[in-house]
Amino acid sequence: MDIHPVTVDDLPAVLDVVGRAFADPAHGGEPVEVGLTERLFADAGYLPALALAAWVDRSMVGMVIGTRGHVGDLPAVGVGPLAVSPDRQGHGIGTALMHAELDAAGAAGERVVALLGEPDFYGRFGFGPAAALGIDSPDPAWGRHFQALLLDRSPAPRGVFRYAAPFDDL
Ligand SMILES: CC(C)(COP(=O)(O)OP(=O)(O)OC[C@H]1O[C@@H](n2cnc3c(N)ncnc32)[C@H](O)[C@@H]1OP(=O)(O)O)[C@@H](O)C(=O)NCCC(=O)NCCS
Repeated sequence: MDIHPVTVDDLPAVLDVVGRAFADPAHGGEPVEVGLTERLFADAGYLPALALAAWVDRSMVGMVIGTRGHVGDLPAVGVGPLAVSPDRQGHGIGTALMHAELDAAGAAGERVVALLGEPDFYGRFGFGPAAALGIDSPDPAWGRHFQALLLDRSPAPRGVFRYAAPFDDL
C-alpha cells in the first residue's frame, strides 16, 4: 500500500471512495460526505498536504482530508471525511491513513487536530474528548464524539472549534 497526497486529477476517485464508504442502503441517494468532500477541495480551507489517499495496485482504496479550522482565532485542523472502500475495510488502511495524516499535520507545523467520530476508533491515535482540553465542540450535542489531539507540548488553545466553511452547509 502506498499513501501520498492527492492531486485535483484524483478527485473523481476520491469521491467514488467516499460515496461507497458512506453509502447507506436504508436511505439510498448520495451520502452527504460526497458533496462535503467536493466542496472542501474547492474551499479556501483546503490544505493540499493533508488530502491523502491510499493506493493498492494503482487503485485508490482509501482517503482522508484535513482542512483549515480554528479554535477561537487560532488555526487548527479539522479532519474528515476518512473513508476506506468497503471491500478493503478491516485491513489497517484507515489506521495507516490516520497515522499518515497526523504525521503530515505535525510536519506542517499544525498544533491541534480535531474531528467528529467514534472514540473507540480515534482513541488509538491519542484523540480524547476535545472539551477536556478546553476546546468546545461546534455542536454541544456531539458530546464526547467531538475529539481533539495536540501535536506539540504547548498549551492547548481554548475556545470553540470552527470547521472550514463547507461543514456549515451540512
Ligand atoms: C472507519 C474506517 C475509516 C476504518 O477504516 P478501516 O481500514 O476499516 O480500519 P482499520 O482496519 O485500520 O482498523 C480497524 C479497527 O477499527 C475499528 N473500527 C472500524 N470502524 C469503527 C467504528 N465505526 N467505530 C469503532 N471502531 C471502528 C475496528 O473494530 C478495528 O478495530 P481493531 O483493530 O481493534 O480490530 C472505515 O471502516 C470506513 O471507511 N467506514 C465508513 C466511513 C466512516 O465511518 N468513516 C469514519 C467517519 S468517523
